[in-house]
Parts: sequence; structure tokens; C-alpha cells
Amino acid sequence: MTLARAVPAPSGPKKVKTVKVVDSETGAEMAELPVLTGTVGADVIDVRTLQAQTGLFTYDPGYTATASCESKITYIDGDKGELRYRGIPIEQLAEHSDFLEVCHLLLYGNLPIGGEKEAFAKGVTYHTMLHEQVNFLFRGFRRDAHPMALMVGLVGALSAFYSDSSDVDDPEQRAIASYRLIAKMPTIAAMAYKWSIGQPFVYPRNDLGYAENLLHMMFAVPCEPYQVNPVVARAMDLMLILHADHEQNASTSTVRLAGSSGANPFACIAAGIACLWGPAHGGANEAVLEMLEEIGTPNRIPEFIERAKDRDDPFRLMGFGHRVYKNYDPRAKIMRETCHQVLDELGVRDEAQLKIAMELEKIALDDPYFVERNLYPNVDFYSGIILSAMGIPRTLFTAVFAVARTIGWIAQWSEMHTDPSQKIGRPRQVYSGETERDFVPVDQRG
Ligand code: CMC
Repeated sequence: MTLARAVPAPSGPKKVKTVKVVDSETGAEMAELPVLTGTVGADVIDVRTLQAQTGLFTYDPGYTATASCESKITYIDGDKGELRYRGIPIEQLAEHSDFLEVCHLLLYGNLPIGGEKEAFAKGVTYHTMLHEQVNFLFRGFRRDAHPMALMVGLVGALSAFYSDSSDVDDPEQRAIASYRLIAKMPTIAAMAYKWSIGQPFVYPRNDLGYAENLLHMMFAVPCEPYQVNPVVARAMDLMLILHADHEQNASTSTVRLAGSSGANPFACIAAGIACLWGPAHGGANEAVLEMLEEIGTPNRIPEFIERAKDRDDPFRLMGFGHRVYKNYDPRAKIMRETCHQVLDELGVRDEAQLKIAMELEKIALDDPYFVERNLYPNVDFYSGIILSAMGIPRTLFTAVFAVARTIGWIAQWSEMHTDPSQKIGRPRQVYSGETERDFVPVDQRG
């Protein structure tokens, strides 16, 4: 049976007009550049011929004003606080769909119809086990290693086991690698956890749903039966849906950049995991809990708010602010509701921690510093609290995020390989170092 199916390919944005670049000193026209449009969202200036026309490059540290690719997968309107996967609002997917359906949607452009859902789920579950030899790799890691350190290493190492799905020019091999990555990430994340607590690895169970299986592999032990709590399973599924993709964020851009050289998919996803690990990105949910713990009691909140506002203090309120959302993060709204539901159902409220979180949210939403800078709580502000209530250890939070984001990475990576304008990523720079100087022999250096 072949797995390869059509992945919607970028078709080339349409040119709607041109803009001229004029020298402000002489008034001379330096260049004329096309303005391109997508289906929705801001138009972009196509600067590809700028250097040829003017000898100038663009300067954009952090790519805050740069569209690095054309994509049909995810749309964000940061001003309105909207997020859509393949056109469908995240709120509708969160309410009516499940994670595997969302994977199908992101990868193939549509929700599954007829037998597609079952076939897709079967294709994924067929790949949930890891090559048994991978178990031995764990022995090389310290027990107290951060799970993300293990994830980066182990996912990269999959290239050594699955070379039969590493040819990126073969659509069938790309499809097999996609299924393998979606299927094996929960297994690896759960094993990383089990390794850290010294318990035996638990093999995947293909009769369970995706989220249920992840929880089962994390919390079951061989000596007694384990029943997954359906409330927790649904919350986990929701968490996976909300984190599944987020257009050209740092880790996704990393995956695309790594993939642009033709690197194999396992290496590319390992690169994405490495980027996700940082506290400004996926590591934020872990950092939120650390911050709540550090604050300790509500009366210390003003002190931390003042620190967050102090330009000379590197401290930031973790879980607040977003590069794209300058309005409420729509995922945070859903997560906030789920957070309260899960805490009520499980009866495991850490009242002090929750009180600090809610108080912090209230103060930050009223404080002119945060209001003027549009710093709203983001998805990670609540996800850490929910994951903690589910019994998931803090160091594993970002690994769960990585499990969810794998489909986004894979969908974007697959799309890139169908893009006729794809080329190796190679930004330029403004060089501000020494111009040219002669080598000085060691005995003459002063
Ligand atoms: N606490 C205090 N001040 C902040 C914060 C914060 N969390 N975030 C931004 N600011 C201030 C920043 O100091 C700057 O102030 P000024 O204009 O006076 O210099 C202004 O707001 C703009 O900040 P920026 O650094 O230019 O914004 P950015 O778009 O580069 O950064 C961010 C976005 C998410 C990295 C940042 O808001 C942040 O560090 N937040 C905390 C970490 C966090 O929660 N990250 C998770 C992001 S959501 C999950 C994901 O996508 O991975």
C-alpha cells in the first residue's frame, strides 16, 4: 500500500501592483518591486530583485517584517486574535474535532471523509513502536537529563534507523517519514519520562486514541492495570490540537531552514525540537510554573510586576506577550476555560498557585505597561497549570508541546518540498567587524 497522497502545493502569490524605491536625497527611482497578495492577510513586497536593482539588501533581525515563504496551512490575524488551520477557526476544531483529524487536515488540506479517518489513524498507529535498538540509546543518557535533551538526541538518531524514509525527493518516503514522526513522538516523549524516573518503558497500545496512548505510556506500569481518565485524555487531546501548528514560528522556521538544504526529516524535526526548547518559545510553559513558584505568595506579585517593567532587569512575565498576537491569544482563551474544567474535575487545584496566576493575569491586564504593549496572557500561561494538574512533571511540558507541534513541522516541511520556488535558506548580514588587516606573527603582537 502506498501512503503518498497529494499535499496542497504553494501556487505562487499573485502580483497586484508595484511599489517604487526612491532615493530620499536625490529623488531618483532606484527600484520597482512587485506587491504580492495571498487569499487573506497583509500583502507583501517581493524584494527578491532589490539587490540586483539597487545593490542593497533588506535588514530585518528576528524576521519581524519578513514573509519567508508562501503557505496554505495556518493563518493568524494577530490584531484580531484569530487562528485558523486550513481556514477552519481553532475554536471550532477545539470544540468538534480531535487531534488525529487535525493532523489529517494540516497535512492534506482537508478533514478526513468516509474511511479516510480510520485509514489515517491506522497508518499512524502502525508506526507507534520504536526500533528496539533505540531503547539502548537511553542508557547513554544520565537519568537526570532534561527530557528535551533526550528528545533532540533521539529524534535526530531516528535517521540512523529509518534510512528507508530519508529520501526527501521521494513523495512516498516523505509520507512514511511523516507517519513515523507523528506516531513515534509520543513514544519517545513517554520513554524520556520513564527514563527520568527509573520506571520500565511502556509500549504503545494501538487500541487507544492518540492522547490516551500518550498518557498510558507515561503513567502505566507493568505491575497493575492503568485506566486513562477520560477528562484528562480530552484535555490532552485539546492541548495537542491547540499547539499543532502556528505558521512560521521560530521552531517551524528552523525546520524549514534545515529542510531547505535537503536534510532528512528526522534531522529537521530534531532541529525544530532544539529551537522549541528555549524559554521564549516552547519552554515558556515550564518557565511559567517556575515563575509562579518563585513568586510564592500573592503579596509578592507587585514586586515581580515591577521587575518585569524594569528595563534594566532581564526578568519578563513568562506566559505574557506574543510576537504575532497583539490581542488575546485565541488558544489562551480556550485553554483558560479548559484549565478551570480540568482543575474542577480532577479536584487537584493548587489553590495558592492558581490564585497567583489569576491575580497576575488581572494585574497585568490592567497595568498600563502591559496594556500599551499589548501583552496578553499567551497559551503557555494556562497550559503549564493544566499539565501540572494532570500530573505531568514540569520538565516534560515542552516535550508534550513537541509531540503536538510535530504535525505542524511535518506539514510545513512537506509543503516546502512541493513548493516550486523552494531554495536553500541563506540570509545575508550587515557586516560591522574589522574591514581588512594583516596577520601579525605571535611574537610581534602587542
Ligand atoms: N514581560 C514584560 N515585558 C515584556 C514581555 C513580558 N513577558 N514581553 C514583551 N515585553 C516588552 C518588552 O520588554 C518590550 O518593551 P519595550 O518596548 O519597552 O522595549 C515590548 O514588550 C515588546 O517586546 P519584544 O521583545 O519586542 O516582543 P517580541 O515580539 O520580540 O517578543 C515574546 C515576544 C513572546 C518572546 C515575549 O513577549 C516574551 O519573552 N514573552 C515571555 C515568554 C513567553 O511567554 N513565550 C511564549 C510565547 S507563546 C508560545 C510560542 O509561540 O512558543
